[in-house]
Amino acid sequence: ETARFTLDPAFTVGEVNPRLFGSFVEHLGRCVYTGIYEPGHPTADDAGLRQDVLDLVRELGVTTIRYPGGNFVSGYKWEDSVGPAEDRPRRLDLAWHSTETNRFGLSEYIAFLKKLGPQAEPMMAVNLGTRGVAEALELQEYANHRSGTALSDLRAAHGDKDPYGIRLWCLGNEMDGPWQTGHKTAEEYGRIAAETARAMRQQDPGVELVACGSSGQSMETFAEWEATVLQETYDVVDHISLHAYYEPVDGDVDSFLASAVDMESFIENVVATCDHVGARLKSKKRINLSFDEWNVWYLSRWQEQATTFEQDDWPEAPRLLEDSYDVTDAVVFGSLLIALLRHADRVTVACLAQLVNVIAPIMTEPGGPAWRQTTYFPFAQASRYGRGQVLDVRVDSPTYETRKYGETDLLHATAVRAEDGSVTVFAVNRGRTEALPLEVALGSLGLTTVVEHTALADAAPDARNTLAEPERVVPHDVTGTTLQDGRLTATLEPLSWNVIRLA
Ligand code: AHR
Repeated sequence: ETARFTLDPAFTVGEVNPRLFGSFVEHLGRCVYTGIYEPGHPTADDAGLRQDVLDLVRELGVTTIRYPGGNFVSGYKWEDSVGPAEDRPRRLDLAWHSTETNRFGLSEYIAFLKKLGPQAEPMMAVNLGTRGVAEALELQEYANHRSGTALSDLRAAHGDKDPYGIRLWCLGNEMDGPWQTGHKTAEEYGRIAAETARAMRQQDPGVELVACGSSGQSMETFAEWEATVLQETYDVVDHISLHAYYEPVDGDVDSFLASAVDMESFIENVVATCDHVGARLKSKKRINLSFDEWNVWYLSRWQEQATTFEQDDWPEAPRLLEDSYDVTDAVVFGSLLIALLRHADRVTVACLAQLVNVIAPIMTEPGGPAWRQTTYFPFAQASRYGRGQVLDVRVDSPTYETRKYGETDLLHATAVRAEDGSVTVFAVNRGRTEALPLEVALGSLGLTTVVEHTALADAAPDARNTLAEPERVVPHDVTGTTLQDGRLTATLEPLSWNVIRLA
């Protein structure tokens, strides 16, 4: 049976915001230390930044980078992370049961973004777990005020004369989660978020603010949390956050492959909640979505590891959450990217959690090499070719049965039309055993050529890239894809992520 859809330039979802290809650097495990920052590494520059990692991050096409957490931010004292590195205090990090040396801090984060290039944009979180309005304002003044005040002059004295110009700010992190240091009820959080937002806007009306939504659609407080928080903050924030991680449960790979069904319903439910509050407030303003943590994460493995912590042991940069991703994970990951693109009209920020070593597309060895995980490739291709107008894709697909989501389409797809009129189709075949024939009617798009069809697929779906074999899995060219008389014909290999570029 063949899967089909039609593309028409008149039917679009919306323009892709470059911020959809954001990522996330948290002080967690080895994301920062021996990840992006490792003084003494053979490729490190004077600032201790690993050039091999910088090169891979650039090639990945990452835009916005969220920092410094995550759960870490709820214990973060920004003052500890500025000034001469040797004077910075060592602190307990309660979130990850580690010791934070503060050798890498705010100034180093900004320097890292500058080295990445102009596409890299900061997204800074303030601590609303153990701190509040005053500390958020002080951090904002230190970071963004030009000069002539105690904190802006302190920044200059620390060597950074130019303000950092941080526009995008998160008002805390996962404040609905009982694991969060300083966890709050929706009413408590709604109030402190609104007051912090109002004060930050007094300092600079140009900031863009993200209120914490739910840590997942399965949270007991989901939707009620968003409604309560937005009732308080609607006029003073721009985005609400969503976080979602997926893993196979009890070996149920078929449901795992359909994870994007959950992600898309999560997005649609948050949109409905935002718009409901907007209607209730008789507001013309629209709140957009910041999907600022998403990925495949073997959370259950981490939860097991967490129970083995020795209470007295507070290691520096331990190996935490170092998931190694196989081909199946990369296909699910690609499908999550498709879900984000399919909702590009409302998801205007998204951050792949995280960037290096910690549930990451890039892995490193201390003193050794850096390499690309399987998930690296779908992200790099989507960031490169997924810019422009998302076309409305409604598939007519054969289905398969999943335990979690019932009858599910085998095909998951989206298409993006670039400014020059070229179109890229991103498509996943969720079927594990059968190839999926695909036909796309291209109507009035005026396309004549298949520029390229690549697939990430493997006879061994558990194949992965490792230190010993860093290039075991890479995308390969697919032959036999044709475009004739406005009709694209392709075959999607079993369990595959596909990028079909048309001009
Ligand atoms: O990305 C890992 C953790 O997942 C983050 O610190 C937290 O926000 C989420 O629970």
